Amino acid sequence: MPIRRASRSLPQLLDVPRQAGIYLEDLFVKPAFRGKGIGRELLVHIARLAVERGCGRMEWSVLNWNEPSIGFYKSLGAIAKDEWTVYRLTGESLQTLASSNQKNLAKPGTDGTFPD
Ligand SMILES: CC(C)(COP(=O)(O)OP(=O)(O)OC[C@H]1O[C@@H](n2cnc3c(N)ncnc32)[C@H](O)[C@@H]1OP(=O)(O)O)[C@@H](O)C(=O)NCCC(=O)NCCS
Repeated sequence: MPIRRASRSLPQLLDVPRQAGIYLEDLFVKPAFRGKGIGRELLVHIARLAVERGCGRMEWSVLNWNEPSIGFYKSLGAIAKDEWTVYRLTGESLQTLASSNQKNLAKPGTDGTFPD
């Protein structure tokens, strides 16, 4: 009997959890109110939403030079995903890609796996 290797889903290939997550964009506390626990409270609120909604993670980006914020995030137990790099497509490159032809590719099934 032939042995078939199970297809790996896209999340497995990308080494990300299969559970949904919450992405946080632009956390900002006005300077006069910093250092009073407000930033932490905001993240506590998002963490509670994540847990209530069955999310396995919270994620966000921070600029490498933003050491105060990095210290803040580490104090909460967050870990930098150093192996990831943000890529951005803008201007002419974005226009070129958007106007290029699309191929008819296989679509993933409801379980997120692709047919062999
Ligand atoms: C980052 C930011 C949101 C933090 O908000 P905040 O209200 O000042 O932070 P908090 O007062 O809630 O601090 C929470 C905890 O983090 C700790 N912390 C803050 N900065 C820290 C640092 N540089 N190193 C270590 N711990 C730090 C605090 O000591 C506090 O811990 P404690 O409650 O045990 O005392 C705020 O400084 C900000 O808006 N910065 C400018 C915008 C920005 O850079 N945002 C991040 C974009 S990715």
